[in-house]
Amino acid sequence: MSTFYDEVGGSALFADLVSAFYVRVAADPILRPMYPPGELRTAAEHLQKFLEQYFGGPTTYSDERGHPRLRMRHAGFHINPAARDSWLSCMKEAVEGLSIHEDKKDQLWRYFEMAAESLVNQLD
Ligand code: HEM
Repeated sequence: MSTFYDEVGGSALFADLVSAFYVRVAADPILRPMYPPGELRTAAEHLQKFLEQYFGGPTTYSDERGHPRLRMRHAGFHINPAARDSWLSCMKEAVEGLSIHEDKKDQLWRYFEMAAESLVNQLD
């Protein structure tokens, strides 16, 4: 049975998505300071592997990092509605730039909206 991961062309699509996303994060005044100084490659690799696993690709993320527990892993960052909106805005542009069917973009986008909302941990 084919998965979303297979249907969108596998790893290459997730590599494109994550690299377009982090180009925008690097220029975002709210998000950039939350990440470690220097290059964002490690953060990008983790996100790419996580998304590949989530959408039915290889389980490399959990093999290397264990259970995702995203809420716990984000607990140390100040994620208020403004940070959520910045994250989603970077991701929206990244998703829109992909060369995949609109239905697939919608599926990605619905997931990101839900996931980002679930990671808000500050209301200021
Ligand atoms: C809501 C706004 C969000 C903010 C501000 C945020 C911020 C961050 C930061 C600062 C890191 C640490 C990066 C590092 O130390 O190199 C991180 C890691 C990560 N984020 Fe987010 N994030 C957000 C939403 C999301 C969403 C929606 C997802 C999934 C769809 C996600 C998936 C991940 C993953 C997989 C990691 C790496 C975890 C690990 O294995 O250590 N994040 N995020």
